[in-house]
Amino acid sequence: MTAKVLWITGGGSGMGAASAVAAGRDGWTVVLSGRRRDRLDQVADEVRAAGGTVDVLPLDVTDAGAVSVARDAVLERHGRIDGLVLAAGLNTPARRWADQSLADVRAVLDTNTTAVVTVVDAVLPALRQSGGAVVVVSSYAGWSFQPGAGVAYSASKTALGSIVRTLNQQEAEHGVRATHLCPGDVATDFLDQRPEVPDAAARARMLQPEDVGRTVVFVLGQPAHVRIDELVLSPVAQR
Ligand SMILES: NC(=O)c1ccc[n+]([C@@H]2O[C@H](COP(=O)([O-])OP(=O)(O)OC[C@H]3O[C@@H](n4cnc5c(N)ncnc54)[C@H](OP(=O)(O)O)[C@@H]3O)[C@@H](O)[C@H]2O)c1
Repeated sequence: MTAKVLWITGGGSGMGAASAVAAGRDGWTVVLSGRRRDRLDQVADEVRAAGGTVDVLPLDVTDAGAVSVARDAVLERHGRIDGLVLAAGLNTPARRWADQSLADVRAVLDTNTTAVVTVVDAVLPALRQSGGAVVVVSSYAGWSFQPGAGVAYSASKTALGSIVRTLNQQEAEHGVRATHLCPGDVATDFLDQRPEVPDAAARARMLQPEDVGRTVVFVLGQPAHVRIDELVLSPVAQR
């Protein structure tokens, strides 16, 4: 049987990378996208070392034209798309009404929200064919209000819950399933974007990217009649 094909955005680091390694180990053919080619190549080596099959496709998810071209390339090279993990994301240290810039607000909304719609929209015909599963990596801040997350980031992630629900409501008849995945604090490079960057001791108490990778594979591994609408996971220490 042909291996199922999983396309991951934000695959060059953090949760996207951990999902790639876990999915590769689980038998998925993984396609990695993100802007930094060197990071994608590094993760591809890790996927191969874990016994997985992997391909690399550099992409800026905020460029709708490039998303279409990349979608075509995945289908040309691999013939199908059975899963989508949307982990590309952005925040900014200047995130309060008092210090935010409108350029940053646009970039956060473009990356975290509009690009999710763009990629799902581009892949939907292939997902309908495969009865595919979409994992939208949202945030604890998309599930419950987090005062420190920021004006744009909170809005961008809260919107993902609604995007997942409309997708499930309207595309269920085609067998398409989507999950609003809401992790609490995860020890990744993303934390470097906080106004106060957590130290090593704080990071050790957080979820590790592998915890999320394992969860993503669990979601993707459900049988075709099972949908996990929303899943919140957080470190025990999270308040
Ligand atoms: N860490 C946390 O505590 C936490 C908690 C909850 C939710 N999240 C969310 O989890 C997701 C993954 O973040 P992470 O924690 O794993 O951090 P990360 O390692 O910084 O991953 C974010 C990834 O997004 C990619 N990316 C950013 N802008 C992009 C663009 N325009 N086009 C393509 N790729 C882009 C980055 O790669 P390039 O720069 O190479 O493009 C990077 O690989 C994000 O959506 C984040 O909001 C994080």
